[in-house]
Amino acid sequence: MTLAAGPDAATLCAMLHDARARTLALARDLSGEQLLGPRLSIVNPPLWEIGHLGWFQEHWCLRYEGDGRLRPSMLAHADDFYNSATVPHATRWDLPLPDFDATLGYLQRVLDRVLERIDREGATEHLRYFAQLAAFHEEMHCEAFTYTRQTLGYAAPDRGRQAGAAANAGAWPGDVEIPGGEFMLGAAPDTGFVFDNEKWAHAVEVRPFCMARAPVTNVEFAAFVDDEGYRRRELWSDAGWQWREQTGAHAPVYWQKRDGEWLQRHYDTVVPIPPHHPVIHVNCYEAEAYCRWAGRRLPTEAEWEFAAATTPGLAGCKRRHPWGDAAPSARHANLFGVVGACADVAAFAEGDSGWGCRQMFGNVWEWTADWFGPYPGFEADPYKEYSAPWFGDHKVLRGGCFATRAGLLRTTWRNFYTPDRRDVFAGFRTCAPVPPSDGAPASREQGSRLRDAAVREPGAATLSAGATSVSGVTPPEGAPVPPSGVAL
Ligand SMILES: [Fe+2]
Repeated sequence: MTLAAGPDAATLCAMLHDARARTLALARDLSGEQLLGPRLSIVNPPLWEIGHLGWFQEHWCLRYEGDGRLRPSMLAHADDFYNSATVPHATRWDLPLPDFDATLGYLQRVLDRVLERIDREGATEHLRYFAQLAAFHEEMHCEAFTYTRQTLGYAAPDRGRQAGAAANAGAWPGDVEIPGGEFMLGAAPDTGFVFDNEKWAHAVEVRPFCMARAPVTNVEFAAFVDDEGYRRRELWSDAGWQWREQTGAHAPVYWQKRDGEWLQRHYDTVVPIPPHHPVIHVNCYEAEAYCRWAGRRLPTEAEWEFAAATTPGLAGCKRRHPWGDAAPSARHANLFGVVGACADVAAFAEGDSGWGCRQMFGNVWEWTADWFGPYPGFEADPYKEYSAPWFGDHKVLRGGCFATRAGLLRTTWRNFYTPDRRDVFAGFRTCAPVPPSDGAPASREQGSRLRDAAVREPGAATLSAGATSVSGVTPPEGAPVPPSGVAL
C-alpha cells in the first residue's frame, strides 16, 4: 500500500511527534490501579493500550515488509501482548505486561527508530502511507483514552482549557433544505491518505431532504426524557427497546436529576448540563427513539456527506472540510486542542457547510441511519482488521468530536461503533421531509425548536427544570422565530 503524494519527511515526523505528545499527556498522570482499571468490554486496560501503540507503530513502520514477511520485534513477546487482532480483549488484564516505565521506554525506542528511518530514507511512498497510518492510529487511541477517562471517572485530561466565546454561543435551531441529486459518495483516488472503507467514490442518488442546522441539544433531548421518552415502547425499535429493558436506561448515561435539575457526571465531577451543548453519550437506539418522538429521523450517511461536502450550484465538487479546503482552525470547528469539551451548537460559524449546517465537524460524532458496510469494489488495505471485521453490525458515525485530531478528518471519513455504545463522544442531528410549501412545520421537533428559542434567555447557563418544562408551550407572540429553512 503506497501513496503517490502526501506529506514530506518533516511533516511525517511532526505528525508522529504530535500524536506521541498527546499520548504522554493522557498517560502521564495515571498510576497504580488506574493503569489497569476495571474489566469492561468497552475499554482497554490503559497500560495495554499504551504498549499497543508502540507495537502498532513498530509493526507497520519497522517490521512490515509488504511481501508477507515480518521482521522480529525489538520487544520479546510483543505480538503475544499487543496484537489486537489475536489477543482476546478479555485477557488483556491478565497479561504479564511490561510495567509503565518499561512500556514508555518501548514506545520511545520504536519512535526513535521510525524517525531515524524517515530521516535516512526520506518520505518514500511506503513510509508516507505507514507513518501516517501509525500517527492516525495513535490519534484514534488518544480519543479512546479520553472517553475511557470519562467512562472510568478519572480526572479530565484538558482541565486548563477554557471554552471562551464558544461557551455562550447559544442554540442554533432550524433546518436547511437540501435538494439532493446524484453525487459521488466516498473518497476520490486523488484524496491522499484514506482508509479502505472510504474507497472509492461512487455515484448515489440523494432525494430532497431537510437537515437540522445543528446537532440535537441537551435542552431538546431533556424534553424527550421528561416526556417519558424512555418508557414509551412505541418510540423504540425492537433492538432499542430490548437494550433499554436490559439496561434500565431512563436518561443519557451520565445524567442525574437532583432537586428537579438535570446534572451530568463530567469525568470526576458532577456539573449542570449546558442547555445548548449537543447531547452527548447517547447511543444509536436513544437517537432513533428521540427522532421518532420528534417526528424526525437520522440522516443516511449519503445525506450527511452530501450536506457536508457539496455546495449549492456546484454539484460535482466536493469539499474536504464542510467549510471548504482551508486547513481546520479553531475558528472552524471544535476539534482536539480547541476547547477540550463540548461547546454550544451555535459556535464556530465559520465552519458552516455549503448548505448552512453548523458543526458537521467537531463537538460530537453524529450517528447515522446506516450500518457500516463496504463500498462497491471494496478491497482491504494491509491493516485488514481496520474495517472488514466490523461490517454489518456497527453503525456509521460522521463528523468527529472535540477530542478528534483535525488532521484525521475529511468529509468522507467514516467512524463506526455498535449501536449500543454510550461511552463514545457521540450525539446526532436529525432530518425530516421537505415541508409543504404552505410553511407548516414539518415535524414536532421543528415546533420544539421554536419553543426552545422562545424560552432561551440571555445568561441562561444551566439546563433547569424550568427550561425543560416548556414542552408543549406555544411560543408567545413576538418571540424570536428561527428560520424554517434556507431557500435554494
Ligand atoms: Fe489499535
